[in-house]
Amino acid sequence: MDLLCRASDLRPTPPYRLPSFRAGHADRTHRRAQFLDTSLDLTVGFRTLQSPLQTKSVEIGLYQPPCYLSFFHLLHFSQAINFCISTSHSILMPTMNALVGAESGGYCLVEHVEIPAPRPGSMLVRVHAVALNPRDAKIVDFSNATGSLGGCDFAGTVERVGEGVARFKEGDRVLAVTFGSDPFDKTQGAFAEYALAEEDISCHIPESFSFTQACSIGLSMATAGLALFQAPGLELSMQGGTTEFVLVSGGATATGTMATQLLKMAGYTPIVTCSPANNSLCESYGAAACFDYHSPACGADIRVHTDNRLRYVLDCVTDAATMKMCYGAIGSLGGSYVALETLATTVKYTRRDVRADWFLADAIMGDGVHMTGTYGRPPSPEHRRFGKQLFSLAENWLQNGSIRTHPLEVQNGGLADLPKAMDDMKLGKVHAKKLVMPLLGH
Ligand SMILES: NC(=O)c1ccc[n+]([C@@H]2O[C@H](COP(=O)([O-])OP(=O)(O)OC[C@H]3O[C@@H](n4cnc5c(N)ncnc54)[C@H](OP(=O)(O)O)[C@@H]3O)[C@@H](O)[C@H]2O)c1
Repeated sequence: MDLLCRASDLRPTPPYRLPSFRAGHADRTHRRAQFLDTSLDLTVGFRTLQSPLQTKSVEIGLYQPPCYLSFFHLLHFSQAINFCISTSHSILMPTMNALVGAESGGYCLVEHVEIPAPRPGSMLVRVHAVALNPRDAKIVDFSNATGSLGGCDFAGTVERVGEGVARFKEGDRVLAVTFGSDPFDKTQGAFAEYALAEEDISCHIPESFSFTQACSIGLSMATAGLALFQAPGLELSMQGGTTEFVLVSGGATATGTMATQLLKMAGYTPIVTCSPANNSLCESYGAAACFDYHSPACGADIRVHTDNRLRYVLDCVTDAATMKMCYGAIGSLGGSYVALETLATTVKYTRRDVRADWFLADAIMGDGVHMTGTYGRPPSPEHRRFGKQLFSLAENWLQNGSIRTHPLEVQNGGLADLPKAMDDMKLGKVHAKKLVMPLLGH
């Protein structure tokens, strides 16, 4: 039975709970409540099977924070079936509900996950809405990190800022990207009541955007930005128009519509592949031409359209078939193929004049990617510098309406319903839409 905090005596949000107190727990000597503050006037309320709620003042010494209320102080209440604790000054160890990597794979909803404290340069955000991405579904299959917070995309209000944060203050509306399911840092992740946001990889949300819309931006921005402008060749800062074509394979993907917008703003001519039903959608984001990827002549058609001059490709789908199609589209002078997944070696070496690489959005954090095999990445401070520039520009683009979200499909429910929505995504039921879930109203 959980120990209960008396809500009236505590600040209503965040919900402070005391997971370590469980009446009837075998190891009573280790029961303790952690306080982030010293307190002298602590009241413990308790209820036994025989008696209604009673309260008793308990003196806990003048410890430096954090201090503990040990089982010793609760000895009188050994018969209690549950407790209430209230303090006038103390803050009880704050916890939250969160979706974390389950031991058996996938995600599970856990109560009483400790709310992470913001580190220097980061902020604690009360999460209002989250978006789902294929990455969230894939990562727990590939590299399950038991107990790590899941999720990448979120938007909410700043609850507390860490040391050195200057761009944001408490109460600001913010969108951010984080990279959940990190086995080495379990506190990174979006699928929770609270999440940590890095100051420089976050944007203020303009008035015109709801949290539900805003939460869909972060991962697409980081992925498209990094893959387009951190590979040698394309320049984000380019001014004015150019006739340089850039092919976005998968123009109707969430990454694809963001990439198309970024390319257009940077002055390039984006062309895309998609299903014919999504031609007008892709054009509305700035695609100058659309090609049906179902056609066996897709690559050849693009080569003709670009007069054999195509040099740059971003493949947002990345399988052997799309890679082959892209290689077929690149002009005879060769070029650069950038993907979002591991490369098919059967295709990679079919053209020596094509430089192929693939990017992981996680690298934008600059401190390396803690995954095994080909997914691992060394630290890359340059990617972080770029991320800072990108998210600062993105804040302006959002403000002046230069970019818009991918089409969204709003999911109902809460954190517990995210795995079901992820299953739909895995089964290929989601087309040209990003699933978003408001957690605290829109
Ligand atoms: N490396 C990274 O850091 C990173 C980051 C984000 C995403 N990703 C990966 O990138 C991929 C895209 O993610 P997303 O969220 O942007 O996708 P998404 O929005 O879920 O993509 C769905 C769309 O994919 C399109 N599609 C499927 N097969 C295609 C093909 N052969 N050619 C062209 N389009 C095709 C479909 O377009 P139509 O409806 O037009 O058929 C569909 O609407 C996923 O594999 C994801 O795991 C990687």
